[in-house]
Amino acid sequence: MNDEIAARITATGTRPALAELTTELLGKKSDLSARKARLGTLSPEERKEEGRRLNEEREAIEAALAARRAELEAAERNARYDAERLDLTEVVPHLRRGHLHLVTQTLEELEDIFIGMGFTVAEGPVVETDWYNFGALNFPVGHPARNMYDTLYVDLGEPESTVLRTHTSPVQIRVMEDREPPIYSIMPGLVHRRDTTDASHLPNFHQIEGLVVDRGITFGDLAGTLDAFTHAYFGGDIASRLRPSYFPFTEPSAEFDVTCVFCKGAGCRTCGKTGWLELGGCGMVHPNVLTNVGIDPEEWSGFAFGFGPERMALMKHGINDIRELITNDIRFLEQF
Ligand code: DAH
Repeated sequence: MNDEIAARITATGTRPALAELTTELLGKKSDLSARKARLGTLSPEERKEEGRRLNEEREAIEAALAARRAELEAAERNARYDAERLDLTEVVPHLRRGHLHLVTQTLEELEDIFIGMGFTVAEGPVVETDWYNFGALNFPVGHPARNMYDTLYVDLGEPESTVLRTHTSPVQIRVMEDREPPIYSIMPGLVHRRDTTDASHLPNFHQIEGLVVDRGITFGDLAGTLDAFTHAYFGGDIASRLRPSYFPFTEPSAEFDVTCVFCKGAGCRTCGKTGWLELGGCGMVHPNVLTNVGIDPEEWSGFAFGFGPERMALMKHGINDIRELITNDIRFLEQF
């Protein structure tokens, strides 16, 4: 095989071109075939010599073509692998990960704080009997304090005997029925009222109830617990205070306020220029309530409190419309 043929073979860039070149070099019309055809015209000596040369040349050409074909095949295969390659490093999930709703986060944070103070967490049913929601809590039938709640009734049993709980206080009764004092419990949960939705009210919202029953519990324990809680949740610059109030199930009863988080006590529109925001109710457990669950009020005393996680979340994060919490606008929810 001469250098020219060798160079042509190596210069061939595709398999079809190489097939054409193969025909040209080895086919019927090739120089080799022509020389083979002329063998018969040669003398026996020359024929032998030329026959050997032709074989050698054919073998050399075939080897060169096969080598080039292998190279071209490998290149094609690699090109195909490149084209078909799946870059697995790019299959990073582009899913956006969600997170807990602000109200759930708030409930968990409140639970953590009270668990840190030694409280346990209890739950009760949302559909309640009149007895648990009112009666056992010292609201006799027809008591005017029942009007504090716009109650939603469930069409079950005697008329008005089954309610959607209007507060989490009935869980206090269930906890006291279930366990012996000393009791240190919080009771988070959903409550319902026949209320019209506005910037500060929802008909369905959460409460977190607290109950302590032990020997020698005083109003000072209540005030101290709520103050410790206030600092833990809102930070050191927010103070708490108690104002006289009325609830049938506590005596004395109080309203629990904290420094207005918007103006830090200076007085603004949100706090009605008082410098304080109301968080919930509290008081010393009424002896009638203890008697209703078979706990001797001469031996045991206790305090209770109840406040609204939604309202606390609004205060902590400076949100001015409670409806933001339930419209499920992802741009709002994402911020927390
Ligand atoms: N249950 C009351 C309400 O929803 C709040 C409340 C007041 C709870 C005083 C208490 C308490 O435990 O002692 O309005």
